Amino acid sequence: MPTLSNRTDTFTESMIRKMTRISLDYNAINLSQGFPDFNPPKPLLDRLANVTYENHHQYEVTWGSQRMREALAKKHEHFTGQKIDPNKNIVVTCGSTEAMMATMMSVCNVGDKVIVFSPFYENYGADAILTGAVPIYVPLNPPEFTFDADVLEAAFKQKPKALILCNPSNPCGRVFTMEELKIIAEFAQKYDTFVITDEVYEHIVYDPNKHIYFSNLPGMFERTITCNSLSKTYSITGWRLGYIIAPQYIVDVAKKVHDFLTVGAAAPLQEAIVTALNFDDTYYAELLDVYKSKKDLFINGMKRLDLSFTDPQGAYYVMVDVSEFKVKDDIEFCTWLAREVGVGAVPGSSFFREGINNYIRFHFAKSEDTLTASLNRLESLKKKATLANGNFR
Ligand SMILES: Cc1ncc(COP(=O)(O)O)c(C=O)c1O
Repeated sequence: MPTLSNRTDTFTESMIRKMTRISLDYNAINLSQGFPDFNPPKPLLDRLANVTYENHHQYEVTWGSQRMREALAKKHEHFTGQKIDPNKNIVVTCGSTEAMMATMMSVCNVGDKVIVFSPFYENYGADAILTGAVPIYVPLNPPEFTFDADVLEAAFKQKPKALILCNPSNPCGRVFTMEELKIIAEFAQKYDTFVITDEVYEHIVYDPNKHIYFSNLPGMFERTITCNSLSKTYSITGWRLGYIIAPQYIVDVAKKVHDFLTVGAAAPLQEAIVTALNFDDTYYAELLDVYKSKKDLFINGMKRLDLSFTDPQGAYYVMVDVSEFKVKDDIEFCTWLAREVGVGAVPGSSFFREGINNYIRFHFAKSEDTLTASLNRLESLKKKATLANGNFR
């Protein structure tokens, strides 16, 4: 038989998907893969039920239905103050996952360098490999997960084509400050680099932190490609709706890439989501309240259990430092945790490029019952881990 492409040779199995599988095997509560176990907003579900009979069953305009793009432009203007043209500045994609891939393919040629902060959302590594781009990793140093401006500048000096900025950040929960964003903006200008943002958690930012849209910084709209998603904001990770917002000259290229990658996102879902895009501020305030109370529940549990963890500024992930348990291999530790304690987590080493393996990641986008049950199970963690004495096989 002929040989297959070698594009995925260096891919490893997604650690998040692997931990989901292991959680299932051991009947553990799965706090590894970040998706809600509660319903999307009812008005959206009601609208979806009606859309069935409204003839939205054929191909839509490849870069997104007119109604959805207009609703997106209105919402974007409401939150950013930017007046964008729904015909020139938006591409609707199959999730932010496709938005990022289409952006990378629009921006990078084979061999182009891309700065990625580490720890990073695991798709960026695969996106880089699939587009032939070469990542330059810049550490976000734990436990605060801040970067060193000199190290960042050294990366910019290597002439990257783009920097990927996940803000609020998965997995570490950082919400970057204006000072940090200004440093990135200054280097992007000085070294003539694009900034690709991933802002899927824009509405899940805890006080006193504030989400700052990178494209709003002076001079940045022209060089920023914003990738975003409706998955997290409306609790619809399975709908696969996302989008790119960028200047027209970039969107024109992204439209072509997107057209040949997927033709378009599901037409009935594009129609239904218009209802959610028109929600008023109350919806976003309530969404944040929901996550704030889940965070409080989970964080207070972590404190009670006397675990060392990072309190996230945004998104819905908690990094727990497991050094005290003499962990040598965090994958082995997470497998043990699912088996012996009954809770699934993601080994931190899958997010870091610096060989850091003393963190595991939990997510708390779960019902209060599920979170309480997880915390109850975690009560036995310290005792069992101490008994294991570094042996988590
Ligand atoms: C930072 C980040 N970007 C993108 C995604 C994927 O978004 P989508 O469901 O729109 O593809 C996720 C999902 O967990 C994420 O955490």
